[in-house]
Amino acid sequence: MEWSGVGRRITEVGSEELLDAMFGHRPRLVASALGPPPPAMVERARRAGMLVAGLAGTVGHAREHARAGADIIVAQGTEAAGHTGTIGTMTLVPEVVEAMAPLPVLAAGGIVTGRQVAAALALGAQGAWMGSIWLTSQEGEPHDALKDRLLDAQSTDTVRSRCLTGKPARQLRSAWTEAWEHPEAPEPLPMPLQIVLLEEAHERIERGIRQGHPGARELMHYPVGQGVGMMRERRSVAQIMARLADELHSALRVSVS
Ligand SMILES: Cc1cc2nc3c(=O)[nH]c(=O)nc-3n(C[C@H](O)[C@H](O)[C@H](O)COP(=O)(O)O)c2cc1C
Repeated sequence: MEWSGVGRRITEVGSEELLDAMFGHRPRLVASALGPPPPAMVERARRAGMLVAGLAGTVGHAREHARAGADIIVAQGTEAAGHTGTIGTMTLVPEVVEAMAPLPVLAAGGIVTGRQVAAALALGAQGAWMGSIWLTSQEGEPHDALKDRLLDAQSTDTVRSRCLTGKPARQLRSAWTEAWEHPEAPEPLPMPLQIVLLEEAHERIERGIRQGHPGARELMHYPVGQGVGMMRERRSVAQIMARLADELHSALRVSVS
């Protein structure tokens, strides 16, 4: 069967194409989630002088990443956008830091302010890894209608559901996620079949959003973490970085005074 789009990317050939594109950009770091980094990827990263990170939702995941050769562990709590486990960032980070020392650990999950970055450092992490915060930036990829929805959302407006990919992933609650949670709704298919199943529907919803169709806007759903409740303004990435640095410095000043 010839797959295109997301369907093709989750085949072996498709993922090779993605890795080729990624290595072509010569980034400093490559991260693996949903399992330890495959040996061929680690080897290729080493040859290219790149660091390898692994996203872990438990200490067990972190150990698997380390065994596979990860240089950095990202301890990601359940608050995070996308595929995420059930343990909160506050509990997971110190647990992973202690179990994996001296491997450097970054904290992830719900972090959208400099005060939280300071908290991550206090928990023993070397820094923070953030995803959701960029979605409402001026440079962020979502459509303006979705950015407005995210800016209005509370921390209670996300749901961890298998409806997006077949594995539990945190996303914005909407008519779409509610429909999948209905008692009479079918069970989502296992990954990767759910992704293939939904590809066309996602494209139609996205087209409807771009065309301003109100029904499509009701169905808007997107990976986002619980930190969305504190994402209040549309700012540039430079402004977000400057504010994070200011908040971090004030929090650290308070903690040492
Ligand atoms: C829109 C979006 C898409 C994401 N897609 C992926 C992905 O494909 N693979 C992955 O490992 N993590 C993905 N993530 C998770 C981020 O890499 C990051 O680990 C997470 O957002 C950190 O938690 P936070 O959202 O609370 O900051 C995604 C996050 C967002 C917001």
